[in-house]
Amino acid sequence: MTTTSTPVPRSLLVDRIGVLVTNDPGAGEGRLGRILDAALVVEEGRVAWTGPAGRAPAADARVDAAGRCVVPGFVDSHSHIVFAGDRGAEFAARMEGRAYEAGGIRSTVAATRAASDDALLARATELLGEARAQGTTTLEIKSGYGLTVADEERALRVAARLTEEVTFLGAHVVPQEYAADPAGYVDLVTGPMLRACAPHARWIDVFCERGAFDEEAARRVLTAGREHGLLARVHGNQLGPGPGVGLAVELGAASVDHCTYLDGADIAALADPASSTVATLLPGVDFSTRAPYPDARALLDAGATVALATDCNPGSCFSTSMALCIALAVREMRMTPDEALWAATEGGARALRRDDIGHLRVGARADLVLLEAPDPLYLAYRPGVPQVAAVWKDGERVAGRA
Ligand code: NIG
Ligand code: FE
Repeated sequence: MTTTSTPVPRSLLVDRIGVLVTNDPGAGEGRLGRILDAALVVEEGRVAWTGPAGRAPAADARVDAAGRCVVPGFVDSHSHIVFAGDRGAEFAARMEGRAYEAGGIRSTVAATRAASDDALLARATELLGEARAQGTTTLEIKSGYGLTVADEERALRVAARLTEEVTFLGAHVVPQEYAADPAGYVDLVTGPMLRACAPHARWIDVFCERGAFDEEAARRVLTAGREHGLLARVHGNQLGPGPGVGLAVELGAASVDHCTYLDGADIAALADPASSTVATLLPGVDFSTRAPYPDARALLDAGATVALATDCNPGSCFSTSMALCIALAVREMRMTPDEALWAATEGGARALRRDDIGHLRVGARADLVLLEAPDPLYLAYRPGVPQVAAVWKDGERVAGRA
């Protein structure tokens, strides 16, 4: 583990903050609710006060931000970190011209089934620590590399040790042993596998894509999940145009993720004020698979809610870096630096239907990041440079040194 933690003082004052991003337009300037020369007080793991440094109340402990900026912890609403094995060779082949295909998932399935529970937990814990050290304070984690009742259930048990945001993704791909009977696999996922997995998860997801699950199968999976109390999210429109976005909006999914290939109807559906489905863009995947980037500008200009997430997994994007996603979103997807930071924080919270994270309004969880930078613009301006000085989750310092 690369993280450290210290005892939580009853109250903590973070003082002399150059720029504080609250994501509360009522508390400061612009959509990010920026407060200059600011302070923030944490009490009992929650934000208790924000405002000008000169007016801050006293607290039991003090951190001097010395003019650096503080932003809400990143909310990474999409990852697959419960796995074993390595697909570096597949990445190398891709860089030599081979296309990314959904079927590569099966090689991770074989390695994951062969791994011990302890090995899976150790690997996932290490990746969570890596994410935390880079400013991620909430990480959604999916199953999807087990694809048997027992292997999916244990993946969810591992995930639940590490996060509240656990997603059942038995419908990731049809495993080899069901290659001749894909409908039989959907019966398994929507029947015994769902019954075993639902108690360990909050969400259900499906990879609705050519080479994975078609619209009808995806609808069955999400509907069955709902009947077991799971909320829907969808992998859609990654490898080509398809029904994923339309289905996600139709079923009121919290999020549809990837959105690399969208048509006008998809954008209109996501931007419809009656839709609460967030478009979660995963630019690290498009980078690592040499795919085109999604049209974030069209989504934002139409009024859709956009989130950014890593999709950390061994196949399509082996990165836990939300800062990389921000830099790619700004450079490659024409999001403004403010839009990208919002999407990596509040956007992720909305994709997880959470109102206690992703912002630093009074009452929010005290999940915050002190950046070794005078302005959050530096996340995109200095790509590839580690800039996280310290990270607090629920008011407890979990990485770095102030
Ligand atoms: O989100 N698209 C489906 N699942 C993952 C890829 C997983 C893999 O290649 O192992 C994704 O990109
Ligand atoms: Fe994914």
